[in-house]
This record gives sequence, structure tokens and C-alpha cells, in this order.
Amino acid sequence: MITKGIVLAGGTGSRLYPLTMAVSKQLMPVFDKPMIYYPLSILMLAGIREILIITTPQDEPAFRSLLGSGSAFGIKIQYAQQVSPDGLAQAFTIAADCGFLKNEGCALILGDNLFYGHDLVRSLKTAASRTHGATIFGYRVNDPKEYGVVEFDSDGRVKSLEEKPQSPKSNFAVPGIYFFDRNVVEYAGDLRPSPRGELEITDLNQRYLDQGELVVEILGRGTAWLDTGTHESLLQAAQFVEVIQARQGLLVACLEEIAWSHGWIDLDTIERRTQQLGKSSYAGYLQKLLSETNDVHH
Ligand code: G1P
Repeated sequence: MITKGIVLAGGTGSRLYPLTMAVSKQLMPVFDKPMIYYPLSILMLAGIREILIITTPQDEPAFRSLLGSGSAFGIKIQYAQQVSPDGLAQAFTIAADCGFLKNEGCALILGDNLFYGHDLVRSLKTAASRTHGATIFGYRVNDPKEYGVVEFDSDGRVKSLEEKPQSPKSNFAVPGIYFFDRNVVEYAGDLRPSPRGELEITDLNQRYLDQGELVVEILGRGTAWLDTGTHESLLQAAQFVEVIQARQGLLVACLEEIAWSHGWIDLDTIERRTQQLGKSSYAGYLQKLLSETNDVHH
């Protein structure tokens, strides 16, 4: 079972300038929560409670004041810094150097990736339960050029992986959530920078593929994987969250609710949080959760 996860929240976010000139991209609002809540919720839904957040040196204080030790969410958060944007795969070297990873498997989620869907939790838990090899996902998108792209042969086996190909060989992009076994630190350490000067996550996945240790699971069309890389896609993600929440009356990525449903925090902790969160609708939601739960118990 993989019990540790990294949220990578580095980078300059230059495609969102001027929004991200003074504030980290992963702290931008996605409707009613900071962006990082969404990937954090995904790790938590996968059952992962030990989390390393990798940010830039400038942004770390803001993440710390937002999330602290993680105790409000029943998780343990550590922080580390990526000094320059040298690639996603560097996350594992950083995680080993700061003592977070010790010869063990680990999940990685990109701090700007949003997922929502019915079968998602089952897929995540299956991936987290594999102790050998790596699990990544394939998700059909209209235009895969901006992503890692996976090609399958007629038997559904992975034929190739390519990072941001000019002429994609399929419509299946690789979303920013990955599960790796204990070899990840060693494999990441063997990588060399790509032509764009980065340690590529796709090259790490390729290493697992070459060793016959890569599983690519398809995330079906009933799952939403949203990007937040441009002003338009950021707004679309916010609208998506608003629509679902307004319809269901349930919050997407309410960290306290997820923690409580796993039995990681008690109602007193939620009560204290509700007070801290003031008059926001998020606080109102927690308040409602508290009163409904108290009704059930009485
Ligand atoms: C990165 C990865 C790419 C992946 C994408 C998912 O791209 O390199 O393989 O498909 O995240 O969001 P980047 O964010 O560096 O453009």
C-alpha cells in the first residue's frame, strides 16, 4: 500500500500572468477554494495521509499559512522547496533529500490538476494498493499536444509514451497523477534533462515501461480531468465546480469532510475549523455537516 504522496506546486505559472506574478498558481481560486485543495483531496481520497508539498522558496510561507501541519484535515503535511523549475521528476530527488521518502513507494499529483468522477476513488485505491511497478492513467482529450501522450496497440498494451508531441499518436493524454513503487528515487536520479532542460515525468514513466513495470489505466469518460493552465481553463474549472456544487448541495474537495468520513478527525476539530472559517459559504457547509451529524447521533 502506498501511504505517501507529493503535491508538486512549483513553477512560475507564467501562462497565467499577471494573476500569478505575486501569488502561486496553485493558490489561485477555483470557485470557492484555493486550487491546491483539489489535488490534496485526491490524495486523501486515495487514503494517503503523509503528504509533501513542494513549492518555490517565495511561495512556501503562503502554503504554510493556508494548510499548516495538516492536522485540521487529519493528515501530516511537510514542505520542501524546488529552487528552479527543473522538471516534475525532480520531485522524487527532493523528497528523498529532505527525508520524506525512504525506500518506499509514493504518489505524485500536480498541484494544478483537478479530477472529479464516480469511479475515480476506486481507480486511485487500486493504484495505491500496487506495491510493484508504476500506475499512470490515460484520459481522452480533444487536443493532447500539450500533454504526455500514450499510444496503445490493438491488444490495449502501451506502445509508446511521448511528451508534448507535435503529432500525437493517440488522443489519450496522461493526467498529472502517478503512483510509483520504491524504485522511484533511484530511477528519477538516473534521468537526464530533456531538450527543454527538464527532468521529465514522461521519461520516468518510460523507464518503468522499458522494464515492463508500467500499468496505464484508462480514466473513463465519466471522469472529469480539468486543466487550469490558461485563463479560460481556470474559469471553466471554477464553473464546473460551481455547477456540481449548486446542483448537489455537496462540496467538491472539502478537506474536512473527507477527513471526517475517513475517521481521521472528530467533530470537535470540524467545529473549531468552522469558527476559523468565519462567514464563508465553506464554513456554512461544515456547519450543516455538523448539525446533520449531530441529528444522526441523537
Ligand atoms: C505535465 C507533464 C505531462 C502531463 C501534464 C498533466 O505537463 O509533463 O506529461 O500530461 O503535466 O497536467 P506540464 O504541466 O509540465 O506542461
